[in-house]
Amino acid sequence: MNILLIGGTGFLGSHLVKRLIDRRHEVTIISRNPYHDMLFDKSRVRFIKGDILQADKIEIPGRVDVLVYTAMIPFKPGRISDKKFKELERITGQYLNNTIELAKRLTCPLILTSGASFDTKGNEIADESWPIARKGMAALGRCYDEMIDIIKRDSSIPLIEMLPAQIYGNGGMFGKVINMAKNGRIVILGGGSNFLPRIHVNDCADAYVLAIEKLPVGKRFIISDNENVRVKDFMLHLAKAFGARKIINIPNPLLRVVTGKHIFNTLTMNTKVSNDLIKRELGWTPNYPSYREGIKSLLE
Ligand SMILES: NC(=O)c1ccc[n+]([C@@H]2O[C@H](COP(=O)([O-])OP(=O)(O)OC[C@H]3O[C@@H](n4cnc5c(N)ncnc54)[C@H](OP(=O)(O)O)[C@@H]3O)[C@@H](O)[C@H]2O)c1
Repeated sequence: MNILLIGGTGFLGSHLVKRLIDRRHEVTIISRNPYHDMLFDKSRVRFIKGDILQADKIEIPGRVDVLVYTAMIPFKPGRISDKKFKELERITGQYLNNTIELAKRLTCPLILTSGASFDTKGNEIADESWPIARKGMAALGRCYDEMIDIIKRDSSIPLIEMLPAQIYGNGGMFGKVINMAKNGRIVILGGGSNFLPRIHVNDCADAYVLAIEKLPVGKRFIISDNENVRVKDFMLHLAKAFGARKIINIPNPLLRVVTGKHIFNTLTMNTKVSNDLIKRELGWTPNYPSYREGIKSLLE
């Protein structure tokens, strides 16, 4: 297949590209900076230097069978003020709108990424029929829901939605957490008693390969491993695996002050999800069924 990616150089995207090349697909990546080293063999990929914020200037030669969006707006970790949040929300809207317009221009299916952001209580388990909880940083994508409704109403493009859980693995922002663990420290943000679903980056990339090759148009998939886990259990397991002895707990009131309400609401949200649909529809199954096997793989 001829596959065009926005975000193919990122944490998830680069694992996905590696798999797509191995499976002999023709891969093209739109990137603002294609010059640095990457996880995959760059000579087997075509780069188009470009910025999704200026999508109208991007020329795509040849046929595209599917456009895959795994991009993320750049922002530095730390406190996000209301003003900064509004700015990031505006840019997120542009990323999504320009991606959808590009798919329309190319008349190809679009695989769009959001996140498994669901607000569950007690024993509730969210599936794809639940509304995405636009709380915390997930509220940056408020416009996403409206755009999806319009696409569905007008049948304007064949669309597939991917909703990954928190992605972990060697690389991306999670690479910083691993480095801290290697240096003997783990930080638990808030009490850590809330559940946040996880997915190993390799399993997440496998799910995208299946979605690309099967193109189950109209579907939305939660991508999560088999076990819902509390934040503190995940972090303590990581500490044990890397022999990190210093466990730093940042209590909720302090966390709220340090990060601001947007990040705080993200970190403290309670989410339990089901991965039944993607297993049933795409025949996907995680090689790392829980964080225990996944974290073990990070040591290899
Ligand atoms: N990481 C997680 O835990 C997680 C959880 C749930 C959902 N997600 C979603 O999964 C996707 C992948 O996440 P990730 O952690 O892999 O992201 P990431 O590593 O931050 O990837 C960023 C990617 O976005 C591209 N990008 C950013 N701005 C761009 C622009 N203006 N024009 C073109 N490309 C641009 C970058 O390309 P260049 O720098 O080469 O231009 C890079 O490839 C994102 O949509 C994210 O929201 C992530």
